[in-house]
Amino acid sequence: MQNSPKRYTITAALPYTNGPVHIGHLAGVYVPADIYSRFQRMQGKDVAFVCGSDEHGVPITIKAKKEGITPQQVVDKYHAIIKQSFQDFGISFDNYSRTSAKVHHDTASDFFKKLYENGKFIEQTTEQFYDAEANQFLADRFIVGTCPKCGFEESYGDQCESCGTSHNATDLINPKSSITGNTPALKETKHWFLPLDHYEPWLKEWIIEGHKKDWKANVYGQCKSWIDDGLRPRAVTRDLDWGIPVPVEGAEGKVLYVWFDAPIGYISATKEWAEKEGKDWKPYWKDEDTKLLHFIGKDNIVFHCIIFPSMLKADGSYILPNNVPANEFLNLEGNKISTSKNWAVWLHEYLEEFPNQQDVLRYVLTANAPETKDNDFTWADFQARNNNELVAIFGNFINRVVVLTNKYYDGMVPEPASFSEVDLATLHELRAYPDVIASSIERYRFREAQAELMNVARLGNKYLADEEPWKTIKTDKERTKTVMFVALQIAKALSTLCEPFLPFTSTKLKDILNLNNNVASTPLSDQTNRTLSGAEEWNGISSKQILIPSGHQIGKAELLFSKIEDEQVQQQLDKLQATKKANASTSSAQAITPQKDMINFDDFTKLDMRVGTILEAEKMAKTKKLLVLKVDTGIDVRTIVSGIAESFTPEEVIGKKVTVLVNLAPRALRGVESEGMILMTETPDGNLVFLNPDSEEVKNGALVS
Ligand code: 2FM
Ligand code: ZN
Repeated sequence: MQNSPKRYTITAALPYTNGPVHIGHLAGVYVPADIYSRFQRMQGKDVAFVCGSDEHGVPITIKAKKEGITPQQVVDKYHAIIKQSFQDFGISFDNYSRTSAKVHHDTASDFFKKLYENGKFIEQTTEQFYDAEANQFLADRFIVGTCPKCGFEESYGDQCESCGTSHNATDLINPKSSITGNTPALKETKHWFLPLDHYEPWLKEWIIEGHKKDWKANVYGQCKSWIDDGLRPRAVTRDLDWGIPVPVEGAEGKVLYVWFDAPIGYISATKEWAEKEGKDWKPYWKDEDTKLLHFIGKDNIVFHCIIFPSMLKADGSYILPNNVPANEFLNLEGNKISTSKNWAVWLHEYLEEFPNQQDVLRYVLTANAPETKDNDFTWADFQARNNNELVAIFGNFINRVVVLTNKYYDGMVPEPASFSEVDLATLHELRAYPDVIASSIERYRFREAQAELMNVARLGNKYLADEEPWKTIKTDKERTKTVMFVALQIAKALSTLCEPFLPFTSTKLKDILNLNNNVASTPLSDQTNRTLSGAEEWNGISSKQILIPSGHQIGKAELLFSKIEDEQVQQQLDKLQATKKANASTSSAQAITPQKDMINFDDFTKLDMRVGTILEAEKMAKTKKLLVLKVDTGIDVRTIVSGIAESFTPEEVIGKKVTVLVNLAPRALRGVESEGMILMTETPDGNLVFLNPDSEEVKNGALVS
C-alpha cells in the first residue's frame, strides 16, 4: 500500500516561538517538506501538510524572563512573524496552527488522559534538581551541565546539542542552574514516566529490522545507537508553570513536557484544518492507507523516531510514520547558526531585503541542502548560484526563447516543419525528466531532483546554442520555426517541472507563456480555473503530446531572475561582521565571571596541579570536541580526554607544556578513561589558551602551588 497510498499526512517540525525562522530551519525542514508536498499535490494526491508554532517549553520562558515580558507576549510576537514569513516565502501548509490553540490543549490533554487511564505511565516520586534561590525545579533548558556521553560542557537537562543524545537532567555531570548559576539541590517530586524500555523490543523490530533500507542512514544510525544503548523510562511531565496542565488529580502545578505535547500538535493542526475544510481528520492519522511523514532536523530524531511513535503505539489507534527524512545542520559562513547569538539569516529580514526573490533562497538552500552532512551557507555561494545558474542557465534560456518568439513571430508559437534527428533526440531526452525528478523526490533527494531540473534548462540552452535559430532565420525560415517550436516545448516543460522547487518562478513563467494553469501545487482550496490537472501537466511531458501548441500567443519577455550585485553581498557580510563585533563586546562585558564561594587553604591544598608535557594526541572518533592525549605528568604518563579539538589540531598540541590537575577522580568519556584535567583559559572570542609555565626550566611533575 505505501507505494501508492491513498493520502499523505506530511508534518514539518513545529518551530519554537522564541525567535523567528532562519535559513537553517528552512534548509533542514521547511523547504524539503514544501517541495515534497507540492510535488504530491501536483500528482493529484490527497495531502495534509501541517505545521504550527511550538509555544510551550523552557526556551519560551527563558526568552520572556530575558525580555521582561510574559511568555504569552513572546509567543504572540513570534507566532505572527513566523506565520507571515512562511506564507510570504511560499511554504504551502494546508494549516499552520499553534500549540496554544484550544484544539491542541484538548487534544494533548485527552491523549495524556487516555494513556493514564490505560495504565501506560509509571507514576514515580524521584529527586529532581531544584534551585532554592529561584524557588523552582529545574527542567530541561533551566539546567546545564556536562553531557555524560560526549563531554560537552553546556548540555541541557533533556538533550545535548553537541551529540544529540537525549537524557534525564540528573544524568548531567556538574549541573548548574541556568537561572542563577547555582549548583542545584535535589528535591523530591512526583512525575509520570513513559516506560520506553517496554517499547524496546517493538522498536527493534519496527526500526532496526523494518526500516534499515528505506530510512536515511543518519536517521537509522541514530535510532539504532539509542536502541542498542538501552532505553529508559522518560518523564513526560514537568514542574513548570508554562505549558498544558497535567489533566489528572494530584498534578497541580505540573505541565506536560513540551516534547510530549508538541508532536501531538501535528494531530491538532490536522483536526483544525479538517474542521475548516469540512473533512474527517481521522483517516489522516488512523487509516493504514495514509503515508505519515515527519520532516525534521537531526536534533529532533529521537523525539520523532522513538518517543512519539512509542506514544502513538501506547495509544494503539494511530498509524506510525512511514519515514522521517531528517536533515543535518546548515552553518552560516563557517559558524553554527545560533538564535541567541543572532548568527543567522532571518527569513523575515531576507524577504524585506531581497523582495520577490523567494525562489533564489529556495534554490540555494536546496542546491546546498544538508541532506547527508552538515553544510555551509555563504553569501558568495548564494550570489554565484544565482548569477551563474538561475540567471545564466534557466533565465537565459527562457529569455532567449521568449524574445525570439516575439521578434520572429509576434509572440505566436510557430508551426514546425519536419523534425531533425537532433530535434527528436532532444524531445526524447526531455520526456525522461518527469520520472527522473519524481524518483529523486520520492526518495527525499531534493538536491539531486533540483539538479535534474536544471539539466532541463541546460538541455534547452545547448539545443539553442547548437541549432542557432538567430542564424538560420536568415537562411532557412522553416528550420527556424521547428527549432523555436521545440525550444518552446522545453520552456513549457520547465514551467511545470520547476513548480515544486521554484513556485514563484513557475507562476511567472506560466504567465509569460500565457498559460492559465498556474497553480497545481498549492492546497486544493487555492486551485481555481485549471484546465489540466497537475498530474496531467507533469506526466504530459513524458508523453508525445504537444505541450504548447502552434498558434498559441505568448506574452512579452520579462526577466525571471536578476543578478545579485557585489554590494548586496557585501551588505550582508557587513551585517554579520557587526553581529560578530556585538557578540565579542557582550562576551567581554560578561567575561568577568563573579568570584566563586570562599574556600579555605585546606580546600586549595587538596588540588594537586603539576606541570606536564603532551606527548601524543589524537581526535576521538565521532566527536568534534574531544582530543585523547597522552600526558607526561612527571609522576607517570597518563591518558587525559580534553575538550579542545575545536581549537587545536593534534599536531599543534604535541610537545606543549601544560598545567594538569592530576588528582581529579578518573571518569569515562565515550568509553575512554580520563585521568586528570588540562587547565585552560579562554579569550573573549571563545578561543582556548593553555596555562603553561613561562620558563623552559620548569620540569614535568613540578607542583603548582
Ligand atoms: O526543535 C524544535 O524547534 C522543536 N520546537 C520541534 C518540535 S517538532 C514537534 F514535535 F512538534
Ligand atoms: Zn553530548
